[in-house]
Amino acid sequence: MLVNLNELLPAAAVSDGAVACCNVFGIEEAKSIIAAAESLSLPVILAVNKDMVDLAGVEAMGGLLVPMAKASSVPVVVHLDHCYEESIVYRAIHSGFSSVMFDGSQLPLEENIRRTRQVVDVAHAVGVTVEGELGSVPYEEGRDHIISMSTVPAEATRYTQESGIDALAVSVGNVHRKTEANSPIDFELLKQIEMATTLPLVIHGTTGIAEPDLLKLKQQRVAKFNVGTTLRMAFGQKIRECMDNEPDKYDSQYFGGKAMPALQYEAARVIALLASSRQPLIK
Ligand code: 13P
Repeated sequence: MLVNLNELLPAAAVSDGAVACCNVFGIEEAKSIIAAAESLSLPVILAVNKDMVDLAGVEAMGGLLVPMAKASSVPVVVHLDHCYEESIVYRAIHSGFSSVMFDGSQLPLEENIRRTRQVVDVAHAVGVTVEGELGSVPYEEGRDHIISMSTVPAEATRYTQESGIDALAVSVGNVHRKTEANSPIDFELLKQIEMATTLPLVIHGTTGIAEPDLLKLKQQRVAKFNVGTTLRMAFGQKIRECMDNEPDKYDSQYFGGKAMPALQYEAARVIALLASSRQPLIK
């Protein structure tokens, strides 16, 4: 079933678990990730990033993912990841996305609040949830224009109250697109942010965070973890292995299909790791 963030995150925020938000780039990934969530009877968030919006267009991604979410036996959010342009946010809403992220983290605070508020007013009018970001989570590679800035707790109070967002992405040492799990998480800063706002918190750059830190984070107010690189590695490495083993084959669909079980396995591992140990499973 298709749901929005508010149907999952407030409960996750007060539990000892969180919901995995997995980047999807096509039908193989979407099917594998939904199958992983269904095998665990747990919800999942499918996130469409800027690369896919640029390649496919947001309408095509909505057209692909929304029917799959509706047909699923578990709650599935179709979410637009980091979006810097209002026009694309509105096209995503028209395309059936149940949730969007308007990323104004590179803007001055006043402008971030003002532009996020406008997005929130439109989105909420049609039942779509909005994630915002304060401070700025850097990238290990790509997106060089993104400047690293820690979230300032005092600003978080004002930003969350005045923008009206549903979930806040925070920068507490996490880094996007790392292949090794060694980001230094500032738990003291996270505690201060938790005192500054009551909203569910979001951690980006999950692949770069060591498992003991993920287990600690999911017990805090963190309700959504964005996961990308570890899934891309599982899928891509399996495709490479299959191609090396079968040099006479050439269909991308053949190799994608061969690699789907490896991706489903990794997605299930991450979804289960981040979930509450006590939360009753759906069904
Ligand atoms: P990783 O690729 O580092 O897991 O992070 C994904 C992400 O945060 C997408 O918004």
